[in-house]
Amino acid sequence: MSDKKKKIALLTGGGDAPGLNAVIYTLTKTCILKYNYELIGYKSGYRGLYINDFMPLTLENTTGILHKGGSILYSSNKDNLFDYKVVENGVEVRKDVSDVAVDNLKKEGVDCLVILGGDGTLTSARDFSRKGVNVIGVPKTIDNDLMATDVTFGFNTAVNIVTEALGRLHTTAESHHRIIVVEVMGRNAGWIALHGGIAGSADIILIPEIPYKIENIVQKIKERDARGKLFTIIVVSEGAKELGGTVTVNKVVKDSPDPIRLGGIANKLTYQLEEIIGGEHEIRPVVLGHTQRGGETSPYDRILSARYGSYAAKMIHDEKYGNMVCLKHGEISYVPLEEVVGAQKLIDPETDELVKVARDLGVSFGDMPVYRKR
Ligand code: F6P
Repeated sequence: MSDKKKKIALLTGGGDAPGLNAVIYTLTKTCILKYNYELIGYKSGYRGLYINDFMPLTLENTTGILHKGGSILYSSNKDNLFDYKVVENGVEVRKDVSDVAVDNLKKEGVDCLVILGGDGTLTSARDFSRKGVNVIGVPKTIDNDLMATDVTFGFNTAVNIVTEALGRLHTTAESHHRIIVVEVMGRNAGWIALHGGIAGSADIILIPEIPYKIENIVQKIKERDARGKLFTIIVVSEGAKELGGTVTVNKVVKDSPDPIRLGGIANKLTYQLEEIIGGEHEIRPVVLGHTQRGGETSPYDRILSARYGSYAAKMIHDEKYGNMVCLKHGEISYVPLEEVVGAQKLIDPETDELVKVARDLGVSFGDMPVYRKR
């Protein structure tokens, strides 16, 4: 057996999420102190792997980062090395440059590549695994839309931020008898809106999985007016849509593997509501945007990320390559990367417990009129 120290490489891909640094911190500490491995981190996601831009990860340069949002390795949601933009003879072309990445890993003597990412990043992780690279995935995204894990790190922090914002918006909405339409992230999944909306006592929650009708939203506002509740808080997921309608697109990021950036629904809904009840209420949109991904990581996400990081180190030791660490029924475990990608975890409106809880609370999803029995 060779007595060469195992060399582990890390990269963080996709949109950042609170908890990335906590995973980097725990994995680095565990790999060095428990297993005596050497670590490097590729910078800016897969781009760093392609151009061989990396830094050593040591106890010294990772100290004090557990609580910090963002990624000390930086991140990018544009660089799919299996379909990468390169310029050849002055012309932009897209090609598979993954062999360059594999060669770089070989050149550096990397034994295992740990990839922290969401759906897009882990799809490439799976593809590198198919090419024979020893890969371990760690599930990241504020959207919580990854299959095969109960929860991704970053989600809890985002929900906390939404909840705090709703608390603040309540007091100002109430003093001015206003309707405030709060747009939250989540792509095509309504997890942030549903959890944040319930925790923050929203009156109306609009999610992609339940198409809404404007008249049901108006009816709920009027029902509150009739009870003397002259303000209303609406949480709308960026991917929500009217029945028979389409999503609201903010921009198309051409180079990105997932080029559609959702956004703008809060403004749209505000205009629509103004047309109907603007005479009775002032209506204001608030877009929480990237505040949901920034700042400090919540205690829950710090602990979850530490658990993921510690277990990923054990997976390296046990050579459980081609898998992603996950949380199942409260237990840390792992699943094949093949089972993780290709499908989004969405809310099932018929069976999801929190949808039922919200309805019991009188929350409207805009899909049907809500009547209050006295
Ligand atoms: O996937 C995380 C996420 O924050 C989504 O909720 C949102 O739709 C998207 O990323 C925003 O991407 P960007 O940072 O490129 O604007």
